[in-house]
Amino acid sequence: MYPLFERVHDRWTYEPLQELGQTPSGCRKWSQSWVWRSLVGALGVAAVFAITRAIYHKRRYSPLDQYQDLNQFPVTLDHAPDHSPVDRRAVVSSLYSDGFAIAVAVVGHSARSANVSARFLVPYLENKVSEKALCIVRAVGWEPYPVPWIPPPHDGNGIHLRFMDQYTKLNVWALDKMGIDSAVYLDADTLVRRNFDELFDSPFNFAAVPDVDVHGGGFILSFNAGVLAFRPSSAVLKDMLQKLEVAEYPPEEAEQAFLNRYFAGTCMRLPFIYNANLGYKGRSPRLWKRLIDEMRIVHYTAVKPFIQDIHVTDTVLPAEEIEDAMEKSVLKKGGLYREEVGWWKDAYRKMMLDRGDAINQCL
Ligand SMILES: *[C@@H]1O[C@H](CO)[C@@H](O)[C@H](O)[C@H]1NC(C)=O
Repeated sequence: MYPLFERVHDRWTYEPLQELGQTPSGCRKWSQSWVWRSLVGALGVAAVFAITRAIYHKRRYSPLDQYQDLNQFPVTLDHAPDHSPVDRRAVVSSLYSDGFAIAVAVVGHSARSANVSARFLVPYLENKVSEKALCIVRAVGWEPYPVPWIPPPHDGNGIHLRFMDQYTKLNVWALDKMGIDSAVYLDADTLVRRNFDELFDSPFNFAAVPDVDVHGGGFILSFNAGVLAFRPSSAVLKDMLQKLEVAEYPPEEAEQAFLNRYFAGTCMRLPFIYNANLGYKGRSPRLWKRLIDEMRIVHYTAVKPFIQDIHVTDTVLPAEEIEDAMEKSVLKKGGLYREEVGWWKDAYRKMMLDRGDAINQCL
């Protein structure tokens, strides 16, 4: 019994000879059951993997299931909020690298264009940010002020390099020392579409918008830290700095994970329109469409129209590079965010029209 080689249609094919008593159909049955068994096996492995992963996520990532008693501060103000005077409100962002100067300028200009009535304060790291970058953000009305670097917990062990400066964001809680009662924090990759003055009169000490699960799980209870409405308090900042070392969360997740732990059960969840995360559109285009007309703040998570490579961001980007980044962002994710990239593009153009002369003098 030897394999038989046969020339068929000008090609050599291999056909095993039949064993005695084994019919061609039996041979096929055996191979089918083999395929079937492998399939069942693979499904079994996948199921075990999925369950393990779910348990792992639940155990490791939920600030409520593994609740830690970190934050003793009250959830609401102890009196009905007065309309805070404009000079005691602040829109606040952060500037830790020259690469984000234009983005911070655009978000500031967009908030001013929406007539948000507040001071515009931007904390920056003195050793990381140049006079050129400060000049650009001043050109649209931001008041930059230097802040100390807040080191990541556990000496930065396990943290992504790009998150090394993220804890510095916590400094915004010290704005009470600058006479601010009520503040709205905006990440550099957000854009203001409409006025959000109502946030300044929130009776809650801390409010934020629920996030989208980047692992594909959909909507989740944890909040996204790109937009925060809060009452500054140096006492809270001091407490946070003490709790940084004891809060338990995956070290690679940075300040957003810490804030979720710290404000676990005390955060007021805001509607999606205050931090319209592009991830929502990926998850549900219908929901996105419903929200568009009321969106206050858009968050460019999935694509960043102002930057090509988030890791190479230590110089002020020249206009050509921004143009290039905008063009490329339109094409990303199969063109899903064409319209939203267009919003950013319009805001950038509008800023250059209004303040381009002042900005160009900085360069
Ligand atoms: C902002 O205020 C100016 C001046 O009062 C007004 O002309 C403009 O329409 C306002 N913009 C928005 C978006 O409300």
